[in-house]
Amino acid sequence: MENICAIRNLTKVFFVERTGEYVHALDRIDLDLNRSEFLILLGPSGCGKSTLLFMLSGLDHPTSGEITFTEKSHDNKRLTCTVFQEYALFPWRTVIDNVAFGPEMRRVRKRARYREAERYIELVNLTGFETRFPNELSGGMRQRVALARALANDPEVILFDEPLAALDAQTRRVLQTELVSIWSKTKKTFVYVTHSLEEAVLLGERIVLMSSRPGRVKEIIDIADIPRPRSTTNEREVKVLAMLAEHIAAEVDKSMRREREL
Ligand SMILES: Nc1ncnc2c1ncn2[C@@H]1O[C@H](COP(=O)(O)OP(=O)(O)OP(=O)(O)O)[C@@H](O)[C@H]1O
Ligand SMILES: [Mg+2]
Repeated sequence: MENICAIRNLTKVFFVERTGEYVHALDRIDLDLNRSEFLILLGPSGCGKSTLLFMLSGLDHPTSGEITFTEKSHDNKRLTCTVFQEYALFPWRTVIDNVAFGPEMRRVRKRARYREAERYIELVNLTGFETRFPNELSGGMRQRVALARALANDPEVILFDEPLAALDAQTRRVLQTELVSIWSKTKKTFVYVTHSLEEAVLLGERIVLMSSRPGRVKEIIDIADIPRPRSTTNEREVKVLAMLAEHIAAEVDKSMRREREL
């Protein structure tokens, strides 16, 4: 397994100017990202999952500790791309021009970048919708555009922050299946934040269980050997689900107790 990013002893403390308080969001995180893996970050609300993605994306910096990508780049903005829960598309650009945005920034010539964009649009099953604008698409379709746009940047790692959380159950299920297929076709490293235990078990190869704030890595569960397509009713998956549920309940309980003490 090839390591492509090492997170070492990473701590993040926010200073909230308005209140003069310090928020200890992440505490001494050690984590390796392997090339082409599907890594899930799972933990109670407020444990620092989004914060960790932000630092991987280079949009924010650790208070101490470090993140080192094996591929050298002057900054990690080029090495990662993020797909957020809100679709974050350019509303004034059509589907194809949204997807072609990355190549355009890299100064790829027009014919070539449209060809590239077309390829990713096909990969996310949106062929035929190239000239639509985001507001003419359903939520699920918008999220597909966001994924195609991320892929068109050809990053090492794609970061997902609860990308399917705003969708209805049916659409979510369809997109989960598509995500796994796109992941196995593109061989990109996916780092995926979710609140859903089922989603973690359906998608992940490794599941990083985080403790309640300050977020720490409590345990890493390797489920790469569970065959795909997965279901949440097979014996092995059910066992993993139960273990995850137990962990989350304990962490939520801990954070609620702490809040009462404050
Ligand atoms: N810019 C900021 N300034 C101050 N505190 C912040 C800032 N960003 C995050 N925090 C705090 O850091 C902690 C971790 O936040 P983060 O958003 O990373 O959690 P999360 O695990 O993504 O939660 P959720 O599951 O609800 O999305 C929270 O207590 C949050 O209030
Ligand atoms: Mg978050």
